Amino acid sequence: MISYKGYNAVDLHVNGETREVVIKPSETLLSVLRDKIGLTGPKAGCENGDCGACTVLLEGQPVKSCLVLAVEAIGKKVVTVEGLHDTEVQKAFVEESGFQCGYCTAGFIVNSYALLEENPDADASEKVEWLSSNLCRCTGYEDIEKAVDSAQRIKNNSESR
Ligand code: FES
Ligand code: FES
Repeated sequence: MISYKGYNAVDLHVNGETREVVIKPSETLLSVLRDKIGLTGPKAGCENGDCGACTVLLEGQPVKSCLVLAVEAIGKKVVTVEGLHDTEVQKAFVEESGFQCGYCTAGFIVNSYALLEENPDADASEKVEWLSSNLCRCTGYEDIEKAVDSAQRIKNNSESR
């Protein structure tokens, strides 16, 4: 790590690539992803851990990137919604129209992906509980649930072949 006047040049591993960024120790992972790496999928909603719009995977676990310092991600694998393109979950949200304004969608896709990796056979109540950490201000929860159900069916069918 190279330091200069409070800034540090660090490597972050994002969506399978190593990205060198110059950051302050106080910068959140969310702001670095959006403003320094140009990945605008994770959204700034509440910026205090309530809404889940900023959800990314850190070492495979969903985290709210507004609550994680970028320096905490050094040496760990970060995946944003951009890294989940062409996954069953991403396609299901498109096919089932699991969004309205779309502001919450990246967070829901990332967290739904993590859910189906962790518990592929999650039942309805487990899915609702898992996704309760994400809020949709347009309240389009029914179509979001349909999208997650569809992704789960497709994923489990393809894995059982
Ligand atoms: S912006 Fe991170 S939880 Fe709302
Ligand atoms: S689709 Fe608008 S906030 Fe969820």
